[in-house]
Amino acid sequence: MKFFIDTGQLNEIKQANDWGLIDGVTTNPSLIAKANTTIEELIPRIVEIGDWPISVEVTENHYEGMLQQGRDFTKYGSNIVVKLPMTPDGIKGTRTLAAEGIKVNVTLIFHPIQGLIAAKAGATYASPFVGRLDDIAHSGMELIRDLVNIYDNYDYPTEVLVASVRHPLHVVEAANLGADVATIPFGVLQKFFQHPLTDAGLERFLRDAGKQP
Ligand code: E4P
Repeated sequence: MKFFIDTGQLNEIKQANDWGLIDGVTTNPSLIAKANTTIEELIPRIVEIGDWPISVEVTENHYEGMLQQGRDFTKYGSNIVVKLPMTPDGIKGTRTLAAEGIKVNVTLIFHPIQGLIAAKAGATYASPFVGRLDDIAHSGMELIRDLVNIYDNYDYPTEVLVASVRHPLHVVEAANLGADVATIPFGVLQKFFQHPLTDAGLERFLRDAGKQP
């Protein structure tokens, strides 16, 4: 399973990359605004850190504008993935950009039929939002199960990119279901290392070795 980091913060990308934990980056307009930066400022700096896939979301809402912006994004590097929304224009744009050899991540997927449409349009990634579904008492993981199964049934190459991840168990459950990628906030990545028995065990080993924990 691949891990992407879901953030607009450069320091988080650098730290997670330094840990060797990440295989890519996803951003969205909200994360970029939260980091108090812009696409033009941020993306070239992420490109300098790694050559893994970097998803950059369009802020245009109509077909022509999406295409223009998406094509412009690819000038930042060959590893740019254009993120398009799950709308008629977004799906039409997916088909067009995919035909040009541009990788597309279809975002805001909340139902299996939306994931099926994204795959049929030629998306490289489909992003189902598990946390936001759980928030409204729908099962995010049922959606992951459905998409993994549907893509498997028809051998679609589209990767299930689990988004809106809120805690480590989301990642474990998605991995058990065979999801290809999870995009994970930095705070959740940090939690991967945390276990009280790891801390207690290490403290005892260090003490027995005559070292300060
Ligand atoms: C990823 O690409 C999504 O933009 C992101 O995971 C959304 O997560 P949220 O529901 O925590 O905003």
